[in-house]
Amino acid sequence: MLRPKLYVSRLLPEAVMAVIAARFQLLNHPTPDPPSPVDLAQGLSEAEAAICTLTESITAELLAQAPRLRILANCAVGYNNIDLAAARARGVVITNTPDVLTDATADLTWALMLAVARRITEGDRLARSGAWTGWEPTQLLGADVAGATLGIVGMGRIGQAVARRAEGFGMRILYASRRPVSTGGSAAWQPCDLDSLLGQADFLSLHVPLSAETRRLIGAPQLHRMKPSAYLINTSRGPIVDEEALVAALQAGRPAGAGLDVYEQEPLIHPGLRALPNVVLLPHLGSATATTRMRMGMMCVENILAVWDGRPAPNQVA
Ligand code: DGY
Repeated sequence: MLRPKLYVSRLLPEAVMAVIAARFQLLNHPTPDPPSPVDLAQGLSEAEAAICTLTESITAELLAQAPRLRILANCAVGYNNIDLAAARARGVVITNTPDVLTDATADLTWALMLAVARRITEGDRLARSGAWTGWEPTQLLGADVAGATLGIVGMGRIGQAVARRAEGFGMRILYASRRPVSTGGSAAWQPCDLDSLLGQADFLSLHVPLSAETRRLIGAPQLHRMKPSAYLINTSRGPIVDEEALVAALQAGRPAGAGLDVYEQEPLIHPGLRALPNVVLLPHLGSATATTRMRMGMMCVENILAVWDGRPAPNQVA
């Protein structure tokens, strides 16, 4: 049987590339770097199937130049980088990678929460600097996480996984969600409207997908509603937060700090954020564990093979 012609935008983990080599005609030699716009267009124009990542913007124009493309597997749970309407109109199946990255992303959310509350990166810098003169009763005092109130915006898989971890810390858990919480929810989690959640949370953690409705959901008025002592954590998508407003709010001391994994214009990070000591910044590492990235890649392969076998793609979003 003819192996499908596959374009892969970026180098995936070794085990995934090995399966790809065995099951597909790979059209290109992906590297860890993003493809140039020309290479992306060229690859898609020849491909019958493609694996892309969140850094590739899959526009209607690109899809129009991809006449043979039957499926594009996005190696991410979010798919805001793809023009879904254009894909539907052209009959291109789009899939994502849910579930396999839930725990890794929830863990990283917690890493940020603990890091910003307990001033881990500031402490690390001091310890390395050679300037530390020893224990002090008032040195780098942070905030308590145990027993605090966690406000979760978006109670899908990742929001729920963050909430489950919070139970172990004895936190009060409030959440704002447009949809009712699916199975697996806990009676201890209290639904709340966004406005009142903003006013009560000691930690505000964002877990909504990026869409027209959620773009800049957290802007100056919302930041102003937060407690001055609260922390903002974002591991979802950068444009959910108005970054300019966040810098101004942090400079004014309200909220007290932020832990960010995602940014409005990645890979650019607002210089105001980089200058603030009370902000912990990560380079979009939510799903970055070896096992998770391998599973994400394998999920892309499985979706493509399903379509090739005439079966429904298990993770079809369009
Ligand atoms: C996703 O999957 O959407 C993450 O942001 C990257 O893994």
